[in-house]
Order: sequence, then structure tokens, then C-alpha cells
Amino acid sequence: MTETWDTIADWYAERVRTGSAMHEFARDALLDGLPADLHGQRILDLGCGEGLITRALAMRGGSVVGIDPSPRMIGHARAAEEATPSGARYAVDDGGSLATVATGSVEWVTAGLSLNNVPDLTAAVSAVRRVLVPGGHLVFTVPHPCFEAPRARWSGGADELPGRVVGNYLAEGFWRSANPDGARRAGNQHRMLSTYVTSLIEHGFVIGRLAEPAPDARVLTEQPLRAGLPPFLVISGLRS
Ligand SMILES: C[S@@+](CC[C@H](N)C(=O)[O-])C[C@H]1O[C@@H](n2cnc3c(N)ncnc32)[C@H](O)[C@@H]1O
Repeated sequence: MTETWDTIADWYAERVRTGSAMHEFARDALLDGLPADLHGQRILDLGCGEGLITRALAMRGGSVVGIDPSPRMIGHARAAEEATPSGARYAVDDGGSLATVATGSVEWVTAGLSLNNVPDLTAAVSAVRRVLVPGGHLVFTVPHPCFEAPRARWSGGADELPGRVVGNYLAEGFWRSANPDGARRAGNQHRMLSTYVTSLIEHGFVIGRLAEPAPDARVLTEQPLRAGLPPFLVISGLRS
């Protein structure tokens, strides 16, 4: 069976909710780029999945809508909202168009590990620019493209530091992980770091922050090989 985000939605929701150190680390890396108090701020969470980041933004006081093209992910997000209301709202929509989101309607767009799933980055950044007010912010995370390139693997014997072998960083495009326990079995768009940054600049964003947070103790307990390598890239851009 060829997996999609919709077919792995139940697995993904279960994984996130039973406490995934990597997902919580990625969430917190993104949230670090936003104010602690979001009262009065309208936020779009692009590619919200089952709502991990959307709920956290609502708990900070933001007026948040999460969108995702997977109806099953949105079903999980709505079920969580019903069980424990945070004020977050959800819609099925595609990050490449944001058809359900009005022009100039939000101060913030967040995108946690989702822009690397959108096939057309130019369309997505253009849609993000459209929905943001002038002076609004885009904050997003992607798996670090330099270390999570297609078919990257671990190296290192007993007497060496573990490292990441990346052979085809320059080859952008869709790829699917062969790992049956990995989210990227649903597919992933590999892009160079410069492609993300250039796309923001070309769409009139001023880059405010570029971060490569070091894996924390919880992540290293689960995945000790990751010591010394940042799993995610965080980028913030200000819409001119
Ligand atoms: C790794 S999950 C991240 C979900 C959530 N942001 C989180 O941090 O848990 C990637 C999400 O991107 C979504 N996605 C895939 N294609 C997309 C698109 N074209 N536009 C927006 N989101 C998309 C998937 O459905 C999935 O929910």
C-alpha cells in the first residue's frame, strides 16, 4: 500500500499523543519563535496535523485556526478539541492555496514540519504572504535539510563519533522513506536550506531568525546518535 498523510493519520496521532520526545522538541523549537502571550493575535497553523502546535498556540491565548489537507488528521484534531477545549478551530485545506483563509486575516502563520510536505513551495509562500497582514510573521520548522536529506544514514563505528552520511543533498524533490516506523514513509519534499531562505526573500519576507536547536536530553535518551546534530531547522520571516 502506498502511504499518504491521510492513511498514516491514526498512527501519527497515536504517536504524538503517547508522548514523542522528537515531536515535543520540534513543537517547542517552533513555539520559541513566538511570544508567550498571544492574546489578540490571529494565527494560522499550516499543516496542523492532529493539532499538537495549534492547541499550544490557543493555550497561549491566540485565536488559532489549524488547516491540513488530510481529513483524517483534522478529524483527530477536532476530537482532541472536543475532549479538551482550547479554542482552536480547524479546516481541511491545502497549504499551497489556503483557499479557506481570507486575505490579510492573520498576524502569524506557523508551519510545524509541514512546508516540507507541500509540493509547490512558491505557491505556499505566496499563499502565506497573501493571508498575513503587513508586518505579520511566518515561523516554520522543517527536518534539517542538511542532515535529513533523502536516504541519509548513520555512520560511525565503536571508536568514532556517530555521523550522518548525506550523499544527494543537491537533488531536490519528492522522496519516500523506506522506514516502516517513520512519518516520511508518507513522502517528503527535500529542498536545500537555500531554497527555503530564497523563497522567503523573493516573496518579500525579511528573515528574522534562523535556528538549529541542539537535541535536548529527552530526544537524546530516545535517539542517542543525534548528539551533535540539529534535527530541525527553524526559520522566522517578517512579511513586508
Ligand atoms: C509531520 S506532520 C506535522 C503536523 C503538525 N504540524 C505537528 O507538528 O505535529 C506534517 C503535516 O503536513 C501535512 N501536509 C501534507 N501536505 C500538505 C499540504 N499540501 N499543505 C499543508 N499541509 C500538508 C500533513 O497532512 C501532516 O499533517
